[in-house]
Amino acid sequence: MAVRTDTSIMAPEQREQREEIVELLTKAYWMEIETVMSYIANSVNPDGVRAQEIKESLEKDIQEELGHAQQFAERIKELYGVVPGSDEFAAEQSYLQPPEDQIDVVHVIKGVIEAERGAIEHYSHIVEATESVDMVTQDMVIDILRDEQGHLRLFEGFLREYEAERRG
Ligand SMILES: [Fe+2]
Ligand SMILES: [Fe+2]
Repeated sequence: MAVRTDTSIMAPEQREQREEIVELLTKAYWMEIETVMSYIANSVNPDGVRAQEIKESLEKDIQEELGHAQQFAERIKELYGVVPGSDEFAAEQSYLQPPEDQIDVVHVIKGVIEAERGAIEHYSHIVEATESVDMVTQDMVIDILRDEQGHLRLFEGFLREYEAERRG
């Protein structure tokens, strides 16, 4: 009789594969945490009438990105990982730091687009890495990926409008 190997991601013999996924999820977790920080700052800092829409939109996104961070944390735990403490945080979003002039909304819009593109790239990688390995993580990340695509699309629209206005 053939010996059946349990390929469930929860099985003891899948430890290595699980650890790889936990590593990818941990990076995603930090990306979300940093995005929350950046979006809080950029939902408050910008000046001017035209910045209001951007600020309101970012304010709404904060809750969504926080929810993503919590989902990544939960999944890390389910896969027998440990959600890291703040000591391990390392900032990467240099492009989302406050601009010199708080009226520079285009700087903010471009920064958000870069953050969302980065998330989409990493989450697409997780979707590929979990294919036929961990469908539950894959399913969760596909849902989050869709949210990020929505954010990207929205801010690409904002940028188009600003650039059209600049051209007159
Ligand atoms: Fe997110
Ligand atoms: Fe996002």
